[in-house]
Amino acid sequence: MGLALLYINLQFEDGSSREVDRLRVDVAGVDVDLAARFRRGGDFLGSLTGGRPLLVEVGFGRGDFLVYLARRRPEAVVLGIENSISCVDRARRRVLREGLPNVRLLLGDARLVVKELLPPGSVSAFFVNFPCPWPKRRHEGRRLFSEGSAGFFLSALCPGGILRLLTDEEWYAEEVALAFEGEGGVEISLSTYAGGEVVTKYEQRWRSMGKPIFELLVRKRESTPSPVALEEEVRLLQFDLRVRFDSLDESSLASLEGVKLEGEGWSAFVKDLYRGKRSYIWRVFLREEGLLQIFFVELVPRGDGCMLKLDSATQPYRTRAVSALMREMADLIVDLGDKRRSDAKK
Ligand SMILES: C[S@@+](CC[C@H](N)C(=O)[O-])C[C@H]1O[C@@H](n2cnc3c(N)ncnc32)[C@H](O)[C@@H]1O
Repeated sequence: MGLALLYINLQFEDGSSREVDRLRVDVAGVDVDLAARFRRGGDFLGSLTGGRPLLVEVGFGRGDFLVYLARRRPEAVVLGIENSISCVDRARRRVLREGLPNVRLLLGDARLVVKELLPPGSVSAFFVNFPCPWPKRRHEGRRLFSEGSAGFFLSALCPGGILRLLTDEEWYAEEVALAFEGEGGVEISLSTYAGGEVVTKYEQRWRSMGKPIFELLVRKRESTPSPVALEEEVRLLQFDLRVRFDSLDESSLASLEGVKLEGEGWSAFVKDLYRGKRSYIWRVFLREEGLLQIFFVELVPRGDGCMLKLDSATQPYRTRAVSALMREMADLIVDLGDKRRSDAKK
């Protein structure tokens, strides 16, 4: 855990490469600030692509296809997303050696990156070559296209955009096809794949074992609109509660300590409660794909009620899950207030 997202720079004008501060980097003179995207919105896409088409490869491994694609499509920006740091490092060296100015690499779980960083309609094509199928039931949750994530990939695609998946496991291709079909607004084809201009490490491996390869093509229909990004709404991080601050007491608020909360793709623990002069603060642990965040949530008086907000001492990435968790906490606090009011009446 710990290291969840890291932007690796590829192109410095002097040809050198270096890893820079986590989440902030200069790519060929373009300032890409991941933290800003997470914390305040920010034009992550614009700074990443400079308005050029965006092609994304997920799980590029050794980087064979990534390099091929970057050469084949010099007018586009090719973003590689990997959750293995050694793959990212190896690909980074290879891309530098081969002098490809249009490649960007991102270390992280693609499910989180696609969901949180790629705006709706921003991607012309996704390429996924031989993802780990995670066949065991207990590992299902690790699959790239586990429940819910297909919708985020689809949302990131532009109308007419394509997702191409190659796999040696037919059941897996069928499962992914079903996930996309369930989202609607797509045309899907699944066929055996004869081979293309580039052969990745895993394609080579499965072919040498005589296994057939399957190609799944998911095309987002031109008529399927991309949802408009409602950043403010999605990542609402301040909640006004219709509960008077003075009507709440420390012991009932302490009952939130140890509460486990869950939502789609995330789970959280509410830890200790701290009392300030005119505030209560909880420490919370939030886990979502590839990312563990520990931060403080604060309850303060506001007007006739109170407000639940992020405490400014901690700066979590403002993911949807942070907002969803705070909404759940807000509901629990309102329930506690209601309960105290009705107990007082008895
Ligand atoms: C079986 S390898 C295939 C590598 C390469 N595409 C090929 O065809 O040779 C799967 C790759 O996907 C990466 N991967 C697995 N899950 C991922 C995820 N959730 N996000 C990003 N990369 C992932 C792994 O680290 C691994 O490099």
